[in-house]
Amino acid sequence: MVDWKNPPRLFIPGPVKVDEEVLQQLARPTLGHRGKEYAQLHGQTVDMLKKIFFTEQNIFLSTSSASGIWEAAIRNCVGLDETVLCTCCGAFSDKWADVAKSCGRNVEELKVDWGKPILPEMVDEKLAAGKYAAVTLVYNETSTGLTNPVYEISRMMKEKYPDVLVFVDAVSAMVGLPLHFDELAWDVTFASVQKAFAIPPGLAVAVVSNRALEKSRNVPNRGYYFDFQQFAKRAQQSQTPTTPNIPHIMALNYQCEKLLTEGMDNVWQRHKRMGDFVRAWAGEKFDLFCEQEYASNTLTTVKNTRGINVAETINAIQEKHNTIFGNGYGKLKEQTFRIAHMGDITLDDLKELLAWIDDEID
Ligand SMILES: Cc1ncc(COP(=O)(O)O)c(C=O)c1O
Repeated sequence: MVDWKNPPRLFIPGPVKVDEEVLQQLARPTLGHRGKEYAQLHGQTVDMLKKIFFTEQNIFLSTSSASGIWEAAIRNCVGLDETVLCTCCGAFSDKWADVAKSCGRNVEELKVDWGKPILPEMVDEKLAAGKYAAVTLVYNETSTGLTNPVYEISRMMKEKYPDVLVFVDAVSAMVGLPLHFDELAWDVTFASVQKAFAIPPGLAVAVVSNRALEKSRNVPNRGYYFDFQQFAKRAQQSQTPTTPNIPHIMALNYQCEKLLTEGMDNVWQRHKRMGDFVRAWAGEKFDLFCEQEYASNTLTTVKNTRGINVAETINAIQEKHNTIFGNGYGKLKEQTFRIAHMGDITLDDLKELLAWIDDEID
């Protein structure tokens, strides 16, 4: 049984550690979702999110995990007879391509080996050779610990392919890494809140461009739960189409206020400091799985160069210190392990964890 007074400390790449005062937001008295108090909470939260993502466009709060928005982007903005280019560089970007196929769309994949980035010239080459309605990018591949050069890709696309929609999965990037939505001319980006927002799972935040919304108007069979048109209609009254996860929105409101008080530049710098620290340790004791230049500031995927038994090490640290970090994802299990450094995790937390791993392996 879980000891609720002493729950495990989480360093897995989501859900991540949640501070006590954030948990308290989830326990506030509930509101009616069509009442003025909720509209105030919703409106205020959306206004703060617009500042956080540097956008004047649409913010939708979805009571789902991020996978729902994978599907929403495709079903709302890619016609049944259109083709989407899915860039694949790890488990999550691969999965998004599968989701697009499961929505019955034509999918073309641009694949690189896991641990390698998607580069602007690769996307350019594909877009020059075919006709695509949209491109999917994963900002931060949570399986390989890699940050794709999405700014460079977006700038190239803005200049050379302005009519192709840009969908960006920012699940393990959002708020930990820079995100200037309007400047990059993105069309859909999203994350679930259990990553760098440091809130328990149960809500996703999506940013949707006006042109994506316009496009969706004429795409048939968008489905019901994730219909952007319904989200946009209700957003005018600071509401959601269906009953939202109000406790999570209270926690999101609280976290947004904290982020804006700290300042986004400072938030990104804080994540970089944590990334540098874990990378330095990983470089000394093991190696990084991905190319150093693209290593993420929100999590590190460590290559198990010493052949340690990862599962046993994780179990030992859980036994002794009630703390968990991540084994490798999918086919990278045991070949790698993953340490999250995002949200409300601190450098001191990381120093403690790495010292405990050292005790096990040295
Ligand atoms: C990059 C990325 N995309 C999508 C997902 C799926 O998110 P969710 O589990 O919130 O649906 C994850 C989950 O870890 C992820 O890391």
